[in-house]
Amino acid sequence: MKNFNQNKKMVDFWEDVHKKKRVRYLSPNRPDFNIKILEIEQLLLKDITYLEVGIGQGSLLKEINKKTKNCYAVDISKTSLMLSKKYIKRGWLNTELFNLPHNFFDLITCLLVFQHIDDKELKNHLYHIIPSLKTDGIYACQFAFGLNDYEIFNNKYFCEEQLQKGLSFRTLDKMVNLIQIFNGKITIKGFHKFENIGWYILHISKK
Ligand SMILES: C[S@@+](CC[C@H](N)C(=O)[O-])C[C@H]1O[C@@H](n2cnc3c(N)ncnc32)[C@H](O)[C@@H]1O
Repeated sequence: MKNFNQNKKMVDFWEDVHKKKRVRYLSPNRPDFNIKILEIEQLLLKDITYLEVGIGQGSLLKEINKKTKNCYAVDISKTSLMLSKKYIKRGWLNTELFNLPHNFFDLITCLLVFQHIDDKELKNHLYHIIPSLKTDGIYACQFAFGLNDYEIFNNKYFCEEQLQKGLSFRTLDKMVNLIQIFNGKITIKGFHKFENIGWYILHISKK
């Protein structure tokens, strides 16, 4: 899976968000909230090799950079990688995931990103991300779903507006199934409710 059809409109959208610092789309959550919700406090050991996917304004990277200088990043936006370059050893665009080293990361995190990507990209993502974990590495990620019939979920063909708003919801069954296809082992760490939206927090390791 070297190539997947990148949706140019989504690239332009995120470039605009980062260039204009449209905070509404960038998530204003504090890094301590992100660390807590992803349940990674115990995993943030000194000098670990760490990758964040979908870095926003880099606040989590900045925080984790205090514990380890072995930080790396993936984002859809060149601007976001450029703005966080002082916190990372190297960055990749989401279209360059095939360049990720295998058996390399102790910890990978991804928060508030799956709800912005379609199934084709999610499959490409899992195909490349899971092999980049060390044998005992952990991929801590979050995905969203609608509560109380809020918006549809499990829709195979998410439209751009849904993707931009972060409304590409998935069921737990669907996520578990996909992750297992790509040789991931799952621990469900958390379940949170925010009005009409639910989040699952998963820790994935290699099978
Ligand atoms: C809602 S922000 C979340 C930022 C951060 N993870 C947080 O929780 O504060 C989404 C981030 O993911 C990036 N992004 C969007 N689509 C992506 C994709 N397909 N692959 C990688 N990053 C993506 C955006 O550029 C942005 O930095």
